Amino acid sequence: ENLCKQGLAQGKRVFIRADLNVPLNKEEGIADDTRVRASAPAVKMALDAGAGVMITSHLGRPTEGEFKPENSLAPVAKRLSELLGCPVRLQADWVDGGFEVKPGDVVMLENCRINKGEKKDDDVLARKYGKLCDIYVNDAFGTAHRAEASTHGIAKYAPTACAGPLLVGELDALGKALQSPKRPLVAIVAGSKVSTKLTILKSLADKVDQLVVGGGIANTFILAEGHGVGKSLCEADLVPEAKAIIAAAKAKGGDVPLPTDVVVAKEFSATAPARTCAVADIAEDDMVLDIGPDTAKTLGDILRKAGTIVWNGPVGVFEFANFAGGTKAIAQAVAESAAFSIAGGGDTIAAINQFHIEDKVSYISTGGGAFLEFLEGKTLPAVAILEERAKGNHA
Ligand code: 3PG
Repeated sequence: ENLCKQGLAQGKRVFIRADLNVPLNKEEGIADDTRVRASAPAVKMALDAGAGVMITSHLGRPTEGEFKPENSLAPVAKRLSELLGCPVRLQADWVDGGFEVKPGDVVMLENCRINKGEKKDDDVLARKYGKLCDIYVNDAFGTAHRAEASTHGIAKYAPTACAGPLLVGELDALGKALQSPKRPLVAIVAGSKVSTKLTILKSLADKVDQLVVGGGIANTFILAEGHGVGKSLCEADLVPEAKAIIAAAKAKGGDVPLPTDVVVAKEFSATAPARTCAVADIAEDDMVLDIGPDTAKTLGDILRKAGTIVWNGPVGVFEFANFAGGTKAIAQAVAESAAFSIAGGGDTIAAINQFHIEDKVSYISTGGGAFLEFLEGKTLPAVAILEERAKGNHA
């Protein structure tokens, strides 16, 4: 942004690494263009500053060295061109240069994960990338947890390297939520398994005032409280971890409010009859598929009083109407709350869209894995290298 404002991008070749890894389907092409829309401002900013723009991204997980049409960024180039209102030229075989980028041009460099050495952050490849440009801009928050040649290595070798507006915006929003939150800070961590979110739960138990757990994760916590969970998804071996998380939260003056009632069914199906019961009354052949209305009310009250909300994961099987009530109530409470709210992860965004609260969430992250790793308190390598570079360590 500053480079543009200072006029330093005028006449320069700018290489933008974006995250344009969008879901594609045969019928409509791009099924959700959020990431393309989120990446357009960086391109526009560079164009307005008089630069020639190259933009690249990975798409899917292709085999290195093997180009297949389904891995092509062609539909993304088309969508970006529509959004910018200017042509976007697609360039294949671009690693060794040999193509022109004039001021005002937008060139989409074909799927960078096809390049040999991209995924393993190969130094020779990173140097080649660096030679293509005058300014490297990393705007790919969604890929910031990957140390690959286009997200990491290039930042060492490009003449200038900096963060783009989306990356800066994401880091600001996450920082606001977790590093200097308005209290009470409430996190909702839900999903199928404690094991996949254990580090996040542990990291957040130390920071938040209320740690709301949901989905299969909550079942393991209900078990830790001494109740049976029938046939529900749960991880009995992680009961000691669940107890430790509750104890850690309490030791810091926080709490892990667990469900008091749940919605159960005899099978995992959209048409399965639903029954609401207290957690003490879960039968041996029951599966817990949602939180109950009393729990939804308690959590809703907590969320409405929050200063900051971090949301990752639906609390029930919201795809099935009979078990959508809990997630809907959470979504509505997030929407009604005056808190600064941030949400991320594919399922969470699907729930936000289903309950039409997109405009009521303060910040929706474009990151999946990157958002989770930030919540875990991990260093994002693509961000760390830019910080190193800013300190002059790679000038
Ligand atoms: C994502 O969709 O989370 C990012 O684009 C990263 O994709 P990856 O997991 O294939 O690296």
